[in-house]
Amino acid sequence: MIKLLIFGPTGSMGHLISRLALDDSNIEVVAACDVDKIGDSLGSVAATSDPNNIIINDVGELENIIARTQPDVAVDFTVAEATEKNSVICVKNGIRCVIGTTGLSEEFLNQFENLVKEYQAPAVISSNMATGVNIFFKVLSVLSPYLKDWDIEIIEAHHHRKLDAPSGTALTIGNIIADSIHSDFKKIAKFGRDKGPNKRAIGAKNEIGVHSIRAGDIVGDHIVLFAGPGERIEFKHQAHSRDCLAAGAIKAIKFIVKAPENKIYSTREVLGL
Ligand SMILES: NC(=O)c1ccc[n+]([C@@H]2O[C@H](COP(=O)([O-])OP(=O)(O)OC[C@H]3O[C@@H](n4cnc5c(N)ncnc54)[C@H](OP(=O)(O)O)[C@@H]3O)[C@@H](O)[C@H]2O)c1
Repeated sequence: MIKLLIFGPTGSMGHLISRLALDDSNIEVVAACDVDKIGDSLGSVAATSDPNNIIINDVGELENIIARTQPDVAVDFTVAEATEKNSVICVKNGIRCVIGTTGLSEEFLNQFENLVKEYQAPAVISSNMATGVNIFFKVLSVLSPYLKDWDIEIIEAHHHRKLDAPSGTALTIGNIIADSIHSDFKKIAKFGRDKGPNKRAIGAKNEIGVHSIRAGDIVGDHIVLFAGPGERIEFKHQAHSRDCLAAGAIKAIKFIVKAPENKIYSTREVLGL
């Protein structure tokens, strides 16, 4: 039985993950922490049965909660500042983390990688835990080298509450394409285009454009456009609901509890892609 701590169970992702975890016979939810609905039953938030009647605790009490409940794994889909603080506390207590929060800083990621080794607590960090998206990543890594002389643009669309732009998934796509054509995404990424003269650098090795749309309740769309002389190819992934993302988080929880190496794993590794 995997003893699980859930961060942010009142969030869009958090409540779906809570529901799946509470219904999973291999997972025992031992704690839930949030800044909202403190004192509510996790079952009432996740709208499912909660056999242990877990009460949502104040995340400010995290050290005490860990000492009392001894989780094996913590799952975190919240906000970057919270994740950067709470996952450090978790890893220092030997808890294996599954982190879906996007917008994490490079500084945090470097520090966290060292902590994972030092405290021997592997983690999954992934901007998108959906199976289809990770197959999409794989296809892009195979295809891009053939199209490196074409122009490549990434277009993503999400709901109007999303905090970060571009999406973590769009950044992952950019890095995968750039790596596969031996380029450096940090140097060639062009985020949006300002009004006025704005000529594109030709070919994907020189520029990859990334564009963000924020509107309504769009769950998450990603289009990768490859344009060459006289023709173009477009690849598109659309999430119809967050269920595929929450199911991916549960797979990652089951994977990380047995993961052999003290490192940060991707969802591609979780899925064996
Ligand atoms: N990797 C993936 O597959 C994937 C998929 C979807 C989303 N995401 C990412 O996951 C994150 C959450 O997305 P969402 O759509 O679920 O957002 P959301 O609905 O806004 O939920 C975020 C939750 O985090 C809570 N929170 C804020 N500060 C906290 C803290 N200090 N400690 C604990 N909980 C805290 C929020 O509480 P309040 O509402 O009270 O502020 C809220 O319940 C975002 O970064 C998003 O980009 C990743």
